[in-house]
Amino acid sequence: MLRNLPFGAPMIGEEERAAVMDVMAGPILVHGPRAVQFEQDFAHFTGAPHAVSVSSCTAGMHLVWFTLGLGPGDEVIVPAQTHTATAHCVELTGARAVFVDADTRTGNIDLDALEAAVTPRTRAIAVVHFLGMPVDMARLMAIARRANLFVLEDCALSLGSRFGGTHTGLIGDVGVFSFYPVKHMTTAEGGMVITHDGDLAARLRLRKAFGVDRTHGERKIPGTYDVVALGFNYRMSEIHCAIGIAQLPKVPGFLTQRECNYGRLSKGLEGIAGLSLLQSTTGVFQSSYYCLSVILDASLATRRAAVVAGLNARGVGTSVYYPQPVPRMTYYQERYGWTDGSFPNAARISDQSIALSVGPHLSEDDMDYTAASLRQVIQELGA
Ligand SMILES: Cc1ncc(COP(=O)(O)O)c(C=O)c1O
Repeated sequence: MLRNLPFGAPMIGEEERAAVMDVMAGPILVHGPRAVQFEQDFAHFTGAPHAVSVSSCTAGMHLVWFTLGLGPGDEVIVPAQTHTATAHCVELTGARAVFVDADTRTGNIDLDALEAAVTPRTRAIAVVHFLGMPVDMARLMAIARRANLFVLEDCALSLGSRFGGTHTGLIGDVGVFSFYPVKHMTTAEGGMVITHDGDLAARLRLRKAFGVDRTHGERKIPGTYDVVALGFNYRMSEIHCAIGIAQLPKVPGFLTQRECNYGRLSKGLEGIAGLSLLQSTTGVFQSSYYCLSVILDASLATRRAAVVAGLNARGVGTSVYYPQPVPRMTYYQERYGWTDGSFPNAARISDQSIALSVGPHLSEDDMDYTAASLRQVIQELGA
């Protein structure tokens, strides 16, 4: 029987609904106790000494670069295979995003190429744990420390991922998470910055709220404050934080389901000709199993649209992570003149992969159905 298996589906239950209604019933919609609690809960979950809530992962990354004072003449190394937000946040400061190709085995940034891309202008590295598979942070941090570079971990896909037992986001200088609906947990929109550096956390906190020196609770005369820095409004509302507080205890269960689904799906795909998988969890690298991307071999990839259409017709939702290497997007091509072929490994992932869902809205039986569907579609195409 035909199923309906969307690629992503937010896991919103009674707890989230009740938490939102609770906020709506009270007088405090922003600057309230839920933001404080959500930050504490998230810090506890990841093991972070400091957590600063922000309105999205993009806002958090922009806030970090802005707070560090990045600007024209500075360079930040960024993976070519990522969401455009990773690069945009650098460019928004006037600094330059220097793209580095992917490692074919994992889709993560190629560390040899990264090392070669460091110049005297390089200030920082933005690293992405692609599809939840941690980057080799031991090697990356060695490169960064040698060149005195700040490391931002873009953890939009890596809630629950660990490197050597440490949660991603706590190995570099900061980690920034996303709570967009298809992520490991959601608050509709939202994000979190975690760090070991209390001074940096305080500077981020100041700048995420206009550079205002006193929170509402700290004002002796209501309505009075001073502004001591340039800043944004990158806060999360109490409604968003309430959803986050209700979601967080469910995350361990979501992660277990993702891991089971991933294992079942990769087993189901065994023996299908023309496919390969990126490396996932091995030893010290603990993935959060964001999705399972199958890479079609070159001849099958010419019919990727037909494979996707076949899967979708069977009710199997798909996606592509990410649809183009960022430097191949029109904006970056026009800005820096990158030509097709500049980032072949990232391009192979963009042009030849199909992302299959292993999300907690799906069961292991759904994984069998997904694998069987892909097998049938490829057979019917005569590939
Ligand atoms: C790697 C990566 N970084 C950043 C973002 C942006 O996150 P947000 O929508 O929370 O700003 C995404 C969104 O999918 C992403 O995949």
